[in-house]
Amino acid sequence: MTSDPIVTIVHLSDLHFGGFADLKQIEALESFLPSLGATAVAISGDLSQRARHGEFQAAHLFIQRMRAQTPTLVVPGNHDIQWWKSPLDLLGERRKYAKYTRYFGTDLRPVLEVPGAVIAGALSSYGVAFGSLTLRIRDLAVKGHLPRSETNRVKQIFDAAPPGVARIMVFHHNVLPGGLSRRMGLARWRSAHKRLLATGADVILSGHDHQEGAGQIQGALAVSTSGTHSSRVRGGRPSVFNLVKIDAQAVQIQHFRWVSGDRQFIPSDTFSFARRGPPQVAVSVAGGDQGL
Ligand SMILES: [Fe+2]
Ligand SMILES: [Fe+2]
Repeated sequence: MTSDPIVTIVHLSDLHFGGFADLKQIEALESFLPSLGATAVAISGDLSQRARHGEFQAAHLFIQRMRAQTPTLVVPGNHDIQWWKSPLDLLGERRKYAKYTRYFGTDLRPVLEVPGAVIAGALSSYGVAFGSLTLRIRDLAVKGHLPRSETNRVKQIFDAAPPGVARIMVFHHNVLPGGLSRRMGLARWRSAHKRLLATGADVILSGHDHQEGAGQIQGALAVSTSGTHSSRVRGGRPSVFNLVKIDAQAVQIQHFRWVSGDRQFIPSDTFSFARRGPPQVAVSVAGGDQGL
């Protein structure tokens, strides 16, 4: 038996406005998404291809149209930051986000409260930075990381939220291995997994891999990975976005697949995961935890 959803979130990612954007899909998203009656829209980064003004302006218009219908939260992806303006943050952090924040607001870690849910954006995109360093040279500016300060901050937000409210965390880099690529978006992902579990999140929304996914971290924390609406899909597969429904018992992730011939998104596979309770805390029961 399923109960009525507390919240329904449209999860988009990797719109990549610029030369690779599929405008037919963008047009279809604009007309179709309002019919889903979602509580909120979350866009998990890579709005642009090269962090260019024209790309950000197109993304800004798209988001403005979304917001006219539905509260919308956006976080930056690795393509949205000008990391070369401050590699390794040698010239400070602000320079590399300056163009993004000009269009999408100064808060790189936005939080959105809607009826039934608190949606916390987190920053995983730092460009060439110490926390994201990798031995794969071509991934130096691509890889992300989730600092402890980010998971601690989100944990505090979720701790303060009323019980029963859905706790949704959004950032760019994929936390589960990509379906075809098998790549992990985050550096030091094992540590990130542990800390994500401790935040008390019900579901993580991320992108970056350009292939849809639905799964769990350690069989406990649901993860929605949304695809891309650019032509840079993996393996020639169709583009997919996700609809995430959360009720008292479960997190349901439904894929919507693009059918280019029909110029429409159609409902596709649905995955359901038991909703987590509050994080497990070691409780000392008198005598029970004393070794004999
Ligand atoms: Fe991307
Ligand atoms: Fe990305």
